[in-house]
Amino acid sequence: MLSGKKILVGVTGSIAAYKTAYLIRELIKLEAEVKVIMTKASSDFISPLTLATLSKNPVAIDFVKDEESGEWENHVALGLWADLFIIAPASANSISKLVSGNADNLLVATYLSAKCPVWIAPAMDLDMFKHFSTNENLSKLRDKGVHVIEPTEGELASGLEGKGRMEEPEVIAQLIHEYFMADSILKGRNILITGGPTYEAIDPVRFIGNHSSGKTGILLADECAKRGAKVTLITGPTNIKVKDPHINVINVRSALEMMQAVEKLWSGMDIGIFSAAVADYRPLEVADEKIKKSDEELTIKLVKNPDILLWTGEHKRADQYLVGFALETENEVENGFKKLAKKNLDLLVLNSLNDKGAGFGHDTNKVSFLKTNNKIRSFELKDKSAVMADIINEIEEDLES
Ligand code: PMT
Repeated sequence: MLSGKKILVGVTGSIAAYKTAYLIRELIKLEAEVKVIMTKASSDFISPLTLATLSKNPVAIDFVKDEESGEWENHVALGLWADLFIIAPASANSISKLVSGNADNLLVATYLSAKCPVWIAPAMDLDMFKHFSTNENLSKLRDKGVHVIEPTEGELASGLEGKGRMEEPEVIAQLIHEYFMADSILKGRNILITGGPTYEAIDPVRFIGNHSSGKTGILLADECAKRGAKVTLITGPTNIKVKDPHINVINVRSALEMMQAVEKLWSGMDIGIFSAAVADYRPLEVADEKIKKSDEELTIKLVKNPDILLWTGEHKRADQYLVGFALETENEVENGFKKLAKKNLDLLVLNSLNDKGAGFGHDTNKVSFLKTNNKIRSFELKDKSAVMADIINEIEEDLES
């Protein structure tokens, strides 16, 4: 999956532009964020409205967005925004402009500003593709690091047969996916995730629990698995199904069960991400039978549960990376930094119940990353899957540095 990846799709004037609609659909299915730049010529082949609808973003075509106000399309920002710029289809004319730097349209100007990898998927008639000028242009672009997706052979719009068909959208999307997956430092690493609540039994029918839905743990597991990691998720009770068959799921109920599973697995792990909302206390005694309603008051004596994350931090080797969460209701940052240090964490993800839409149950969260040396990085309220992508990106950056 490409969640959290920003893909800029450039479209130039070729009959193959209709295939770009399918390419965008594939990228969106893979959860990429997609923006589109078109040349004016390409809009003769496919409508900007179609591509705007599929990409869920306005399409950029002109340097000027609004003539009256003078608002301009910021090609520099677009170039910097993208994690990958794919020009598909790339016509012979546009390929030649990329080589010469002839920035008479927004697409080429953006190419000149882009800092990310640039890919092109040429599409043209077979003789145009064979022509020495096209060949020279493509080899110049390759020399400068542009990745060229070879066109395929087959029937062309001219009616002729030969090499020049733009590669199929599904194949291009798969190549992009493989590119980002191969890129992840998490590929093949063992990652242990805790998620969900714990239920501490009072009697056979009652328990002490909390509002965690288990969503965060599952989304974290999904995100790590997408990046090629070997993921074990230890989750407390949840109604959400884990769909990815590559995730090893261990279902537990209580803090003691979670503790046992973590103790068994931690030494074989490279990374731990502990998002579970573990009950800090459990009843000292669990009644064998359902407690009958008799007295006006009922006292249940509670004892402290082990702090699973604290144990894990104490047993952390130098080659292991540990992330904890903190759910606070007051003095959030101060308490967060205390937990970071006490539990020997590399990263603490802080969320506060004071922020609307954050914490339990919601599909969104608003988090800050706390690190040693009082480093703090705060994010907007986002969809939880985007929050997980931010967390995993942060871990990747730390492991790469
Ligand atoms: O499941 P969702 O509905 O998506 O909700 C997500 C969440 C709100 C549960 C999640 O974002 C979150 O904040 N998880 C941590 C909740 C929590 O218990 O925070 P804490 O500040 O009490 O604990 C700090 C850290 O120690 C946590 O990483 C926790 O997993 C860990 N801990 C705490 C107590 C304990 N006995 N053992 C632990 O391992």
